Amino acid sequence: MASKAYDQAQLHELLYQALETEIGGATVYETAIECAVNEDLREEWQKYLDETRNHKKILLDVFEQLGLDPKTQTPGRQVVAHLGESLVAAMQMAKDAGDPIAAELVAGECVTLAETKDHMNWELIGHVGQHGKGDATQVLLEAYRSVEDEEHHHLLHTTGWTRELWIESLGLPAVLPPPEEVKHVDTKIGASRAEQSREKMLGKGH
Ligand SMILES: [Fe+2]
Ligand SMILES: [Fe+2]
Repeated sequence: MASKAYDQAQLHELLYQALETEIGGATVYETAIECAVNEDLREEWQKYLDETRNHKKILLDVFEQLGLDPKTQTPGRQVVAHLGESLVAAMQMAKDAGDPIAAELVAGECVTLAETKDHMNWELIGHVGQHGKGDATQVLLEAYRSVEDEEHHHLLHTTGWTRELWIESLGLPAVLPPPEEVKHVDTKIGASRAEQSREKMLGKGH
């Protein structure tokens, strides 16, 4: 398939939003870690926090190579910042209510929401890198390749953790750490398979 010229202004908008997502993502993780009750989950999120800080650096490098100002504000970027702040406020609200298990579930959902946006940003950056035409595509593709595995983990593993912690809170047998974690899942198909194998995994220990 022939590569096409892309809309440069919209690519820049995507990059501003992606940078804001990583900046807000670090604060989301800092708050989520405070809400984590499960030790393994707290460790996992600590790792994802470090990776998120590194993704910010990778993006700043992209900005430099493309001659973009990381401080540029756009209405879309401000929405991303607002959503990030809202997720932090939601976790704080749950934490202040005094039920640690409930706050941990809220944190799992907030991280899943934040990572849904983070994951999509990077998939789109990779898409322009693969299908776009122009000097920037190589820069985008290299940045994408260096984060894609981590972004799959952030979203798919946190989704698994949140589902299993919810199941545990419902008083039913849970697979902890979740199947996605144990099976080192890094694709959506793998995550679906891992989820389907949870009954078998439960069978081992129950
Ligand atoms: Fe990220
Ligand atoms: Fe992420």
